[in-house]
Amino acid sequence: MSDVAVIGAGYVGLTTAACFARLGHEVRCADIDAERVARLSGGEIPILEEGLPGLVAEGLSVSRLRFVHGASAAVVGAEFVFLCVGTPQASDGRADLTAVEAVCAEIAPLLAPGTVVVNKSTVPVGTTRLVARWLAEAGVGHEVGVASNPEFLREGTAVRDFLQPQRIVIGCDDPAVAVRVSELYRGVPAPTVVTDAASAELVKQAANSFLAMKISFMNAVANVCEAVNADVRDVALGMGYDPRIGTEFLQPGPGFGGACLPKDTAALLHTAAECGYDFSVLRGVLDVNDRQRAHIVDRIREAAGGDLAGRRVAVLGLTFKANTDDLRESPALEITRALVAAGASVRAFDPVAGEAAAVMVPGLEIAPDAYAAAEGAEALAILTEWDQFRWLDYTRVVSAMAEPRVVDARNLLDPAAMRRLGFAYQGVGR
Ligand code: UDX
Repeated sequence: MSDVAVIGAGYVGLTTAACFARLGHEVRCADIDAERVARLSGGEIPILEEGLPGLVAEGLSVSRLRFVHGASAAVVGAEFVFLCVGTPQASDGRADLTAVEAVCAEIAPLLAPGTVVVNKSTVPVGTTRLVARWLAEAGVGHEVGVASNPEFLREGTAVRDFLQPQRIVIGCDDPAVAVRVSELYRGVPAPTVVTDAASAELVKQAANSFLAMKISFMNAVANVCEAVNADVRDVALGMGYDPRIGTEFLQPGPGFGGACLPKDTAALLHTAAECGYDFSVLRGVLDVNDRQRAHIVDRIREAAGGDLAGRRVAVLGLTFKANTDDLRESPALEITRALVAAGASVRAFDPVAGEAAAVMVPGLEIAPDAYAAAEGAEALAILTEWDQFRWLDYTRVVSAMAEPRVVDARNLLDPAAMRRLGFAYQGVGR
């Protein structure tokens, strides 16, 4: 059992803190937002993650997990300090490390000798060494270890991904420190890759960029399928049986979004450019991703008769993917924003994020359910693959709509079944 401080109580920090407590460690999780700390201390979880409320309640009840306000309150007495603060993408594609630097300055004087500071947030290559420098400059005064331990948490399955990961990656220039970090994961059945800090940081960004590339590749194949009248789902099926390709991440759609893939891909492109290497493949990945959102808007415009101005459009799904409440970099939200900007009258339904989205898209009307969203609509766009949209009563939807036209941007529905109901159906790559 170790004494662990986790700085940042967002998707990554909260999951990390609760899971380390479950593994038997003594955990203090700090956040800069006092109100968030108070809610968490009361067991209220501000994000949608399966299993997280139960883990937090368990950690609080056995007093292995505490929430505190401010990093300083968490690090005193800690053997390990995990940095899980936000590293958002700056306008030039670079990751913004302001929060990381600020935490280093705050905690340096408080760290006991031998403490290990671990970067878990996704950071550009070289950040772990930067953290060591920031700590030294802030007067850490004695030997502390610094390591990289990137997270591979998918939103919606973060707890499972933490406790049953495909791999654990630890980057540190001091092998003894790397071993100490790996021992925190005792009881977690996964291969551990121990390497230097830069390689560990690059594993994360290269892995996410590769996933983004698979998605952009399939979105591009989907566009070819539409041109040659092929079905991308069968193409993906035929491709995926090759274990060198695999079946995952071959689903075309409105493009990838979320807090990770867009940011990590842009950050790797930026890192390469800073080193004088033109990572042209990644430029293509991001370019296809941007154009895919516009492609879906074009399809919805066509479905609405060629012009969006004054048209009533129903939207199902606003989050960046199903089973999360996260709207960050959501293609669904971006497409909805474009529809409103083009003068369409948009009524949207999302199972969890409707109210939050309404604040972000002035003029967007939020419906209480999918049928209300479809009422009087001249086109219906399915933008996020919430399972409930698969099982709607589409006979009810078709009678509610003014014009039975659907753009299924996630290939959720059966085209033949929809056409039998009288819909004009448009999928992606089908
Ligand atoms: C991602 C990585 O998967 C995870 O390993 C990393 O640690 C964090 O970032 P996440 O962003 O939570 O996880 O979601 P993910 O499931 O990867 O989906 C990312 C985006 O790709 C979503 O917008 C999703 O809709 C899209 N996607 C995914 C596709 O368009 N097609 C697919 O086949 C898969």
